Amino acid sequence: MSSKPPRTKDRARPGPGKDSGRKPNRGKTAAKSAARTGGPAAAPKAHGAAAHKAQRATAHKAKSAGAGKTAQPAGWVVRAAPGLGRTLLAELRHARLLGQNDRADLLWQRNHDLLFAPRLARTPAATELRSAEDMHRCLVYGRYKVSDSQLERLAQLLQGQRRRLVVTADGRHFNRHDLARFLGRELSARGVKLDEAANTPLLVFCIEQAYYACVPVRDADQTAGRDRRQVEREGSLPPPIAAAMAFMTRPVDDDTILDPVCGSGTLLAEAGGYAPGARLIGTDQDLQAVKTARRNLKSFDTAQVEHADARALDLPDASVSLVLANLPFGKQYGDVAENRSLYAEVLQEVRRVATPRGFRAALLVSDRRLLRDAARQTGLRVRHDTAIRVRGEDAAIVLLDLPAAG
Ligand SMILES: C[S@@+](CC[C@H](N)C(=O)[O-])C[C@H]1O[C@@H](n2cnc3c(N)ncnc32)[C@H](O)[C@@H]1O
Repeated sequence: MSSKPPRTKDRARPGPGKDSGRKPNRGKTAAKSAARTGGPAAAPKAHGAAAHKAQRATAHKAKSAGAGKTAQPAGWVVRAAPGLGRTLLAELRHARLLGQNDRADLLWQRNHDLLFAPRLARTPAATELRSAEDMHRCLVYGRYKVSDSQLERLAQLLQGQRRRLVVTADGRHFNRHDLARFLGRELSARGVKLDEAANTPLLVFCIEQAYYACVPVRDADQTAGRDRRQVEREGSLPPPIAAAMAFMTRPVDDDTILDPVCGSGTLLAEAGGYAPGARLIGTDQDLQAVKTARRNLKSFDTAQVEHADARALDLPDASVSLVLANLPFGKQYGDVAENRSLYAEVLQEVRRVATPRGFRAALLVSDRRLLRDAARQTGLRVRHDTAIRVRGEDAAIVLLDLPAAG
C-alpha cells in the first residue's frame, strides 16, 4: 500500500491531522483493526480524480442513507494507569464483558493505557472493572481525518446536549489545538452546543492517527465501595492500581489477605471489593496509618488492622493465603539504602506466614531487582512482573508464589 496520503474531499479541506504514513501507536491498534475490519474511517486506498469523485458520491450516499437512522455509539473506551492495559483487558474478559475472540484494541497515551472495544456484552456494573480509571461511550472513532459522515453521526449523538470540548493528542499526527478548532466549527455548524462552561465534556482522544470521540460514563470514584473510604493519606495508592494488583491474584472469599505495610488500607479495601467474605489483615508501624486504615476498612466485618512491624508479625506460621503490599519506595516512606534489608526481612516474614498451598502475593516496588533478590533468598518464586507508572514514577508489580513442594 502506498504511504502517500489519500486524496479525498477531507484532505482538501483545511482540517487537522496529517497522514504521516507512520505506523500507529505500538502493538495492535484501533487504526490497524479499523483498516482490517473496514471500520468507519479506514483510509481510502484509491487515488486520482475518478476515485475522488466516487468517494464524494459514496460519502453523500452514506449521509443520505444515514439521515433517517438513529446513530448508535461506536463502542467503549476504558482506560487504566500506564502499564495496566493488559490487566484491564483480562478483567474485561474475566467479567465476560468481552469474549475471548472479541475485538479490543490497546493503545498507549502518555498517562493512560487506553482500551477500545466496539462491543461489550453489557454496560459494566459499578462493581465491575475495578482496575479501570475511567470508562466512556465512544461515539465515533476513526483515523487520519474526521470525515463528514463521522461529523454527522457525532452531531446526531450529541443533539440536545451541552458539552465542553476537550481534545488530547499523543503522537505527531493530530494537533490538539487545530483539531479542537476544527471540531468546534464543524459541530457548531451542525447544531451541537459546545460550551467551555459546560460540566460534561466531549472528550476526543487522539493517539497517533487514531481518534476516539467519547463521553464519560464512569470514573474511578464511582466504582462500588469506594465511597466507604473515609480518610486520605499522603502516598496512598490510587484505588484502580490497588484493584489491578488485587485482581492479578484473583482473591476469593476463602482467602486470608495480609497487607503488612497497609498505610491507609487501599489494597485491602480493593481486595475486599473482589472478595467481600475474605479475612483482611493490615499492619503498619505508623500509628496514624493504623487509625486511618481502621476507619477506611470499618465497613468490612472481617478486617483487622494492627500496629506492628512487618518484619516481626504476630501471626501464626502458614496462616495467610494472599499478600498484597506497596512496599516503601524509599522516598516518602523509608530509605532507598535501607530497602535492601527491609525487602529481605519483610519477605522472610511473608514466607513464614504463607500457606503451603495456594499462596500468592502481589507486591508493588520501585526496584524490582531488589525484590527479586529478596524473593530468591527467602524461597519465594517470582511468577511475573509488570512495569507500571504510579503518579508519574516508574514501579513494578511483582507476582510471587511458593514453588510446589518436593
Ligand atoms: C507506600 S506506603 C503504603 C501505602 C498504602 N498502600 C496506601 O494505599 O495507603 C508504605 C507504608 O509502609 C509503612 N512501613 C514502612 N516500614 C514498615 C515496617 N517495617 N513495618 C510496618 N510498616 C512499615 C509506612 O508507615 C507506610 O505507611
